[in-house]
Amino acid sequence: MADTLTVKDNRTGKQYEIPISDGTIPASALREIKVDDEDFGLMSYDPAYKNTASCRSAITFIDGEKGILRYRGYPIEQLAEQSSFLEVSYLLLKGELPNQSELDTWVDKITHHTYVHQYMIQAMEGFKWDAHAMGKLVSLLGTLSTFYEDSKNVRNAAVRDEHIIKIIAKMPTIAAWCFRHMQGRPYIYPDNGLSYAGNFMNMLFRMAEPQYKPDPAIEKALDVLFILHADHEQNCSTSAARAVGSAETDPYCSLAAAAAALYGPLHGGANEAVLRMLEEIGNLGNIPGFIEGVKNRERRLMGFGHRVYKNYDPRARIIKKLAHEVFAVTGKNPLLEIALELEKIALNDEFFVERKLYPNVDFYSGLIYQSIGFPVEFFPVLFAIPRAAGWLAQWQEMLMDPEQKIARPMQIYTGAGERAYVPMDKR
Ligand code: ACO
Repeated sequence: MADTLTVKDNRTGKQYEIPISDGTIPASALREIKVDDEDFGLMSYDPAYKNTASCRSAITFIDGEKGILRYRGYPIEQLAEQSSFLEVSYLLLKGELPNQSELDTWVDKITHHTYVHQYMIQAMEGFKWDAHAMGKLVSLLGTLSTFYEDSKNVRNAAVRDEHIIKIIAKMPTIAAWCFRHMQGRPYIYPDNGLSYAGNFMNMLFRMAEPQYKPDPAIEKALDVLFILHADHEQNCSTSAARAVGSAETDPYCSLAAAAAALYGPLHGGANEAVLRMLEEIGNLGNIPGFIEGVKNRERRLMGFGHRVYKNYDPRARIIKKLAHEVFAVTGKNPLLEIALELEKIALNDEFFVERKLYPNVDFYSGLIYQSIGFPVEFFPVLFAIPRAAGWLAQWQEMLMDPEQKIARPMQIYTGAGERAYVPMDKR
């Protein structure tokens, strides 16, 4: 059986053979379907790209029905258990797991690019101290591009590699400094003797102690959370990175655009929204009323539902387990009880079952973040740090893909036809 789709245009009676490969038809083939030579040709209409593949990608595989997530073929569960965030970043960017010497070189390079230009502090000081940390992060990513003029040579592989390392290295520094700025505390400089997550904790939490020693359980938990958030194929922020990057914008500004997309409450801002929701519910007795409100469409159960997963998000399962390990150190987060009860009720309620709404990555991550001592407005920043590795891997893949061009969707024009300008005194 040929891998083709036969389409008959009932307007003209003409028949077309459209090739099918990888379960997909090329949208450009539709353009051949015309009523006459003047006709532009058929387009597909797909708001929010719900059924449109915008690229070929070899980075992340998701089977939303089965709840499977793999980076470069490796199951997320195995990576979370056995790998480290920097090793996973290497895997995402280069396609293969590094050998020991490749990993050592990679970690060494990232460790030695964590400092940012001192003038970044002046940029930071321009913000109101209580401004949202994501607004600051978006701006600071753009600001970094002003220090690295050469980063716009995006077609040069060596330049790309250099700035990929710089971005992964500097994300924790600018993120931690946003945190310190919020608290009115002095900025802490990177400590090269610590791990990626350990150094991040040092820049966040160190006070007067001569050397900061991260709690190993929290350090490990942060590293696992970084692995789980590192990539998630063509989500809203990654699509933003690819779209902006397709104009050959430098990687700092492309990632600023991605971070801006991540900021939204329907995307990376959801963990913040989950915590606010749990705090608002306040106690177990308020849960039934809250669920009724969700079913009456007065509100959404934040941290539930996903565009792709129609099953338990595999990351949520790992995070739920991780939460108990963190609480063993920090003490139990009192909101955990509310979250567990909400999950139990929702998973057994027809409304959620019918719509295949399950906990997503954000449902439990906020509880961990809060227990470690992060304010809710900092949660999306914690998401952005590791996701930078995924954004960069996808940005690089887009640039190297000969089929890609500047992103430029079509539209169905629904506005007025041509009309003559009306002078002010005639309106
Ligand atoms: N609470 C209540 N109902 C929901 C929820 C929810 N969290 N999510 C979806 N639904 C319902 C919708 O009302 C809709 O019902 P209907 O068919 O009767 O109208 C149905 O489920 C399908 O929902 P859509 O909005 O069409 O699904 P979509 O794929 O567009 O949205 C999204 C996915 C945005 C994640 C949505 O589930 C949501 O808003 N969830 C809450 C926010 C959240 O947790 N976001 C984090 C996502 S993970 C991430 O970005 C890292």
